[in-house]
Amino acid sequence: MQVQHNISLKTYNTFNIDVIAKQFVSVTNIDDLKAVLSLHKHTNKLILGGGSNMLLTKDFDGLVIHVNIKGIEIVSENDDFVYVSASAGENWHEFVLWCINHNYGGIENLSLIPGNVGTTPIQNIGAYGVEIKDVFESCLALNLKTNELQSFSKTDCEFGYRDSIFKKHAKGQFIITSVVFKLTKQNHKLQINYGAITSQLNIMHIINPSIKDISKVIINIRESKLPDPKKIGNSGSFFKNPIISKYHFNKLLKNFADVPNYPVSDDAVKVPAGWLIEKAGFKGKTFGHYGIHKNQALVLVNYGNASGLEILNLSKLIQKTVKRLFDITIEAEVNIL
Ligand code: EPU
Repeated sequence: MQVQHNISLKTYNTFNIDVIAKQFVSVTNIDDLKAVLSLHKHTNKLILGGGSNMLLTKDFDGLVIHVNIKGIEIVSENDDFVYVSASAGENWHEFVLWCINHNYGGIENLSLIPGNVGTTPIQNIGAYGVEIKDVFESCLALNLKTNELQSFSKTDCEFGYRDSIFKKHAKGQFIITSVVFKLTKQNHKLQINYGAITSQLNIMHIINPSIKDISKVIINIRESKLPDPKKIGNSGSFFKNPIISKYHFNKLLKNFADVPNYPVSDDAVKVPAGWLIEKAGFKGKTFGHYGIHKNQALVLVNYGNASGLEILNLSKLIQKTVKRLFDITIEAEVNIL
């Protein structure tokens, strides 16, 4: 473990933004992590996992700690369930595939989501009808103040839509080191209600899908809609889907009868930000070396050497336009640094 100086973060964030970290260290175990933290108590720190949910807009004048702790182990199991602990630095998709190969069900719908295991609870990642909270059992996190490990149960995490305690009052105070997932060993509860899943299963002539089939279907859907960050820099959904009042929604319906919507309570409705951004005319637009993805307007992309500021400014223009046209505020889902 060695602290390096003036390191480019380009390969450490999926947006491929080239900013410089004054100091950088990659840690592979908890003891090293504790040692780094006690040596650099008063240094400004940035904790980096897979770098898949952040937009870096400037050089970082402090210490970047790259959490690269690996390991997967079975904590306990019975006939029906297995409790699997995965270390924070495990690549999420590889972990999903490991579970599928062992016939452990529950996270197949979350196939191909970029990033590492340790960051999945922070924003309660979700896709195709499943969120991490559905399989989350507990996690261990290092308290930056005490340098001690602390355990968080599902209730402690206060999960919400792309939200948890780690984005609210515990923000910046913990480093998640491992997560325990409760997965099924038999009688898997498949989530196939999402429209695109059913149609893909039909196309593939699959009647009784296995978790492996679901994973394949999800991979096909994601590959057809979302850019691969290894080829085109991006951070998945840049914005959260906004929740608006029923009253506001009814007003919107008068002008746009086709607005997709998901009721969240008796008087609130979630509408897809991607639809709003597309209606605002941004889908597929490019501005030199950055732009909005052609198949999913929620995704901003870096085609080459865009700066974080250019992408941030584009996101602000989109927010302003959506506000002006629909009177709806869309919030960034990614962390802007
Ligand atoms: N839509 C458009 N235009 C677009 C994009 C979407 O009209 O450019 C419409 C679609 O036609 C559909 C609706 O919006 O009727 C929903 O679209 P989609 O199923 O693609 O889902 P989403 O709400 O845009 C969310 C997540 C994605 C996740 C998908 C599938 C958020 C912010 N995003 O997107 O998550 O993969 O559902 O479950 O909740 C991510 O977080 O990085 C991510 C990709």
